[in-house]
Amino acid sequence: MIAFLISFLAALLCESVHSNNSAVAWCYNNPLCNFTTWPELSPHYCNGSSQSPINIVTAQVLENSNLTQFNFTGFDANTTFISMANSGISVVVTLDEEIMSVQGGDLPGLYVSKQFHLHWGNSSSFPGSEHTVDGKQYAMELHIVNVHSKYNGSLSAALAANDSSALAVLGFFIEGTNEASKAKGWGVLTSFLRNITYSGNATVDIMNRTSMNSLLEGVNKTKYYRYRGSLTTPSCNEAVIWTVFKEPIKVNNNLINLFSTTVFAKNASAPVLNVNNFRGVQPLNGRVVTSQVEQTASPTAPSSAATSISSLSLLLLLTSLCCL
Ligand SMILES: *[C@@H]1O[C@H](CO)[C@@H](O)[C@H](O)[C@H]1NC(C)=O
Ligand SMILES: *[C@@H]1O[C@H](CO)[C@@H](O)[C@H](O)[C@H]1NC(C)=O
Ligand SMILES: *[C@@H]1O[C@H](CO)[C@@H](O)[C@H](O)[C@H]1NC(C)=O
Ligand SMILES: *[C@@H]1O[C@H](CO)[C@@H](O)[C@H](O)[C@H]1NC(C)=O
Ligand SMILES: *[C@@H]1O[C@H](CO)[C@@H](O)[C@H](O)[C@H]1NC(C)=O
Ligand SMILES: *[C@@H]1O[C@H](CO)[C@@H](O)[C@H](O)[C@H]1NC(C)=O
Ligand SMILES: *[C@@H]1O[C@H](CO)[C@@H](O)[C@H](O)[C@H]1NC(C)=O
Ligand SMILES: *[C@@H]1O[C@H](CO)[C@@H](O)[C@H](O)[C@H]1NC(C)=O
Ligand SMILES: *[C@@H]1O[C@H](CO)[C@@H](O)[C@H](O)[C@H]1NC(C)=O
Ligand SMILES: *[C@@H]1O[C@H](CO)[C@@H](O)[C@H](O)[C@H]1NC(C)=O
Ligand SMILES: *[C@@H]1O[C@H](CO)[C@@H](O)[C@H](O)[C@H]1NC(C)=O
Ligand SMILES: *[C@@H]1O[C@H](CO)[C@@H](O)[C@H](O)[C@H]1NC(C)=O
Ligand SMILES: [Zn+2]
Repeated sequence: MIAFLISFLAALLCESVHSNNSAVAWCYNNPLCNFTTWPELSPHYCNGSSQSPINIVTAQVLENSNLTQFNFTGFDANTTFISMANSGISVVVTLDEEIMSVQGGDLPGLYVSKQFHLHWGNSSSFPGSEHTVDGKQYAMELHIVNVHSKYNGSLSAALAANDSSALAVLGFFIEGTNEASKAKGWGVLTSFLRNITYSGNATVDIMNRTSMNSLLEGVNKTKYYRYRGSLTTPSCNEAVIWTVFKEPIKVNNNLINLFSTTVFAKNASAPVLNVNNFRGVQPLNGRVVTSQVEQTASPTAPSSAATSISSLSLLLLLTSLCCL
């Protein structure tokens, strides 16, 4: 996640890890620097105990009636997307923080929206979401990064404050479909990918083309999971109130495929397509995932079906942890 730190933190990281240009910084697809190595490459804070992403085990999610609906501001406006860039790590859309913000949903205050970016796999048949649900990994994941208004829109100030509520990130799963996407914004957004093939390309101006809600169409934004975690890229600061929406955005497979076949990663030597830009799931370490009270939920003990789903999820979680 959180490609927004790239220039700032990657520069920091390069300085701390490199004594010359031939060394590698953190990465996704090279065994020398992929996410299994981040706790060593960037021990502050990738070696922490409240890291993201996680596998959400639905049978262990606790109800919390404080998780009311959000108040989204500017999500319908088509003036909020300022520009789109290839950061070398992800595709990042800079948002107009004067217009876009989110509050409610048990967040401690107003959070201004800074940017959104994406994580993907390698074509629609190799999924690339960061969070998983009962072991299921979705095709892609969208992260809207919002910073508490008390930091005046400054991400670096927010991270420097060592505040576990500094950021509120909204995560949306993306699921492939062979039908036309209901969320019309994806056709618009992906049409600009060829303008930012390389991370050296200039940002592309995409104002007045589409809106946030046009990318989120079809998702019921009152249904979500909540937990405390971190940035999913070095330096993995544990500064994030995570909201992961339950319903995926449905996006046409051909549009999903454009990400892994158009956009190149930052690479010193030969250009390589940016694929599998996600971090694997991290241990919960006792953290609890909560969600709003389901009208239909049974107040009694989980059914045997739920229990067996639970053990299956645990098995899947253990399996995925073993791979780390
Ligand atoms: C710096 O480069 C030299 C040779 O070019 C190499 O042997 C050495 O391991 C590099 N140092 C680091 C920290 O990567
Ligand atoms: C990451 O690198 C480790 C070795 O450091 C390797 O065993 C593992 O397969 C790699 N995983 C991914 C997802 O690239
Ligand atoms: C990470 O933390 C664990 C437990 O605190 C410790 O055993 C391990 O050495 C740490 N690893 C690094 C690379 O700092
Ligand atoms: C809900 O909010 C109230 C008031 O802030 C707090 O006392 C309570 O602990 C919260 N409940 C949960 C489940 O977090
Ligand atoms: C939603 O937030 C806006 C400011 O961003 C505020 O003007 C409005 O009153 C809020 N609405 C509700 C229902 O809280
Ligand atoms: C991604 O998929 C393409 C086409 O199937 C394949 O050539 C390439 O090796 C894959 N890349 C990675 C990193 O798995
Ligand atoms: C934010 O702006 C206010 C008013 O301009 C100022 O008092 C405050 O110190 C600023 N906070 C930060 C974190 O920069
Ligand atoms: C994107 O690039 C194409 C040429 O490939 C160009 O015609 C178009 O104007 C560019 N779009 C924007 C918004 O810059
Ligand atoms: C992107 O950068 C590449 C390499 O520098 C260049 O060949 C290409 O024309 C650029 N594309 C656009 C749309 O500017
Ligand atoms: C977008 O639309 C707004 C409102 O109509 C206008 O003020 C602004 O100049 C437009 N921006 C671009 C880049 O077209
Ligand atoms: C942008 O928003 C304005 C006002 O809501 C609307 O008239 C216009 O059609 C929208 N443009 C696009 C491309 O959606
Ligand atoms: C979203 O879900 C809530 C809770 O189940 C439901 O009351 C509401 O009608 C749903 N909204 C839409 C637009 O489907
Ligand atoms: Zn992210």
